[in-house]
Formats: sequence, C-alpha cells, structure tokens
Amino acid sequence: MAESRIPRGRVGQTYRRSLPSDQTDRNAGFHYEFSNEFYALWLDPTMTYSCAYFERPDQTLEEAQMAKVDLAFRKVGLGPGHRLLDVGCGWGATAARAVEKYGASAVGLTLSQNQLTYAQTRVRPGTALEYRLEGWETYQAPCDRIVSFGAFEHFTSPKYPAFFGRCRELLPADGRLLLQTITVSKPSRSFELLRFAYFLHKELFQRSELPRLEQVVGPAREAGLELLHAETLRPHYVATLEAWIANLEGQKAEAIRLTSTALYEKFLVYLEGAARYFRSGETGVYQFLFGVA
Ligand SMILES: C[S@@+](CC[C@H](N)C(=O)[O-])C[C@H]1O[C@@H](n2cnc3c(N)ncnc32)[C@H](O)[C@@H]1O
Repeated sequence: MAESRIPRGRVGQTYRRSLPSDQTDRNAGFHYEFSNEFYALWLDPTMTYSCAYFERPDQTLEEAQMAKVDLAFRKVGLGPGHRLLDVGCGWGATAARAVEKYGASAVGLTLSQNQLTYAQTRVRPGTALEYRLEGWETYQAPCDRIVSFGAFEHFTSPKYPAFFGRCRELLPADGRLLLQTITVSKPSRSFELLRFAYFLHKELFQRSELPRLEQVVGPAREAGLELLHAETLRPHYVATLEAWIANLEGQKAEAIRLTSTALYEKFLVYLEGAARYFRSGETGVYQFLFGVA
C-alpha cells in the first residue's frame, strides 16, 4: 500500500485527554459502530477482532481464533463454576465459549451498542451469560477469572494503574488475569510509524495508545498482580492480518456498498500498515498472565 495514501499530520502531538480513572470514555467504542455487517465481511464467523493463534499451519482463521481463546482459558485454568469477566468482549464469542465449553458463567463488557446488540443474540434462556454496555471503570461484581483481548489498547496509559487496581479488587486470592495486548516493541525512530499512529488515531480509533512492555508489567505489579507468564504471538498477528486483508479485498464491492470507498480504503491502509509493523517487530502482541501477589 503506497505510503502517500496516509494523510499527513502533526507528529509528536499528544492525543490523550486526561479523564478521571473512574470515568469511561465512550469514544473507545467508536471504532466498532461502523456496521456489524461490514465487520462480518472480513472477520471470521465468530466475529473475533484480535490476534488469533495458529496452533497448526492448516487451521482456518475461525479455528485459530478459538485456539487463542482456549490457550488463554487454559492459562487461567478456567473451569466449571468459575465466574469469568471478559473486559472488551467485542461481539461476544469469548464469553459465550466460556459458558458453552467450560461450564463457567460469564459477563462481557463492551462500549459499543452494535456489539452489544449482536452479542446478546448469543444468550439462551437459563444460561449464565450476560453482556453489558459498560466499561471496567464502573464494573463492581467480583469474579474468579478475567480475560481481555485487544481492549487494553483503548485504555491509554493514565488509566493503566486504575485498570490493574480494578482487576485486583475483583479477583480472589487464587484469581487470574489474562491480558492480550499489542505493544510497542522494538525501539523505533521511524517517522512513518508515527505518521501511521496519527492516521489510526485520527481516522479510525479516536482513543488508542500502544504500551511498552514495562508499562504493562509495572502498573500491574504496583496494583498487586504478579506476572506469571508472558508469550509473544507476533507471527500470529501477521497471519491474522493477512487473512483479514484477503477477506476484505475479496468483499470490496460489498464493503463499499455497506460503508464507502473512503472507509474501505482507510481500513486497508490500517490493516496493511499493521501487518508491516508486526513483521518488522516495531509492534508486538503478548498474552500476559497475572496472579494475585
Ligand atoms: C478490538 S475489540 C476486541 C474485542 C474482543 N475482545 C475480541 O477479541 O474480539 C476491543 C473491545 O474493547 C472494548 N473496550 C474499549 N474500552 C473499554 C473499556 N474501558 N471497558 C470495557 N470495554 C472496552 C470495545 O468496546 C471493544 O469491544
């Protein structure tokens, strides 16, 4: 994708507006409101929108997305009777799997009305599955296990201590938190990466920031959460993005019909740029497992 398609912006600008840590910034839901049908064109059938885990090279994207969820559930030791909290549940597949395949009860939090509407179609009468239009900032009910895939990128660094503090408050002494997030990894002086980050912020995400590893582990430790395990999934994000790009390009006409040519092109710039930075190692993606210290 030609770099010239990325709009020029002021580099070094501070994008963050500070919000009190107990307040939810609804802008973090903006990216998910374009159209459920648009996302369904290029995500896998489970509508999972984070890095997958290709356990075997011949897996489909759908299988790899559920392999990623199962990998996380194994790490936290999810089992029958556990109450799971999924922070940033997206279209709801993870929480539904916890209930259907692991015998847990589950609550999923999202800031997107479109996602909530879709996720609620998964709820069957009598099952212990619930989705809420609510941020972690106000969520109070205790739980046994917490997972979060691809949502931390929206929280922004002033809120990291409050996020880990809230997880610590909600978990019992033997509780576990599995956090999957994109990180800024290899030190980079790349002007193009800064320009790309500005484009993403301005055009598609509104509220986002990528943490360095120490910005994840440090505040977690301060909040009383001990890092037990960390695993990079970086090559898996390249494969995930390549699958999304192929799907989106294959559905070009329908994607433009549902949204616009401009939005279709912005998504391609975003997905192709993201794949490039995961390939180079300037961005990474990790699953962090925390226990109560
Ligand atoms: C990239 S999506 C990932 C969705 C899902 N975890 C998955 O893997 O498919 C990010 C999700 O984080 C949610 N989110 C962002 N900020 C949040 C907050 N403060 N509290 C709860 N959810 C939040 C968004 O609404 C969205 O559902």
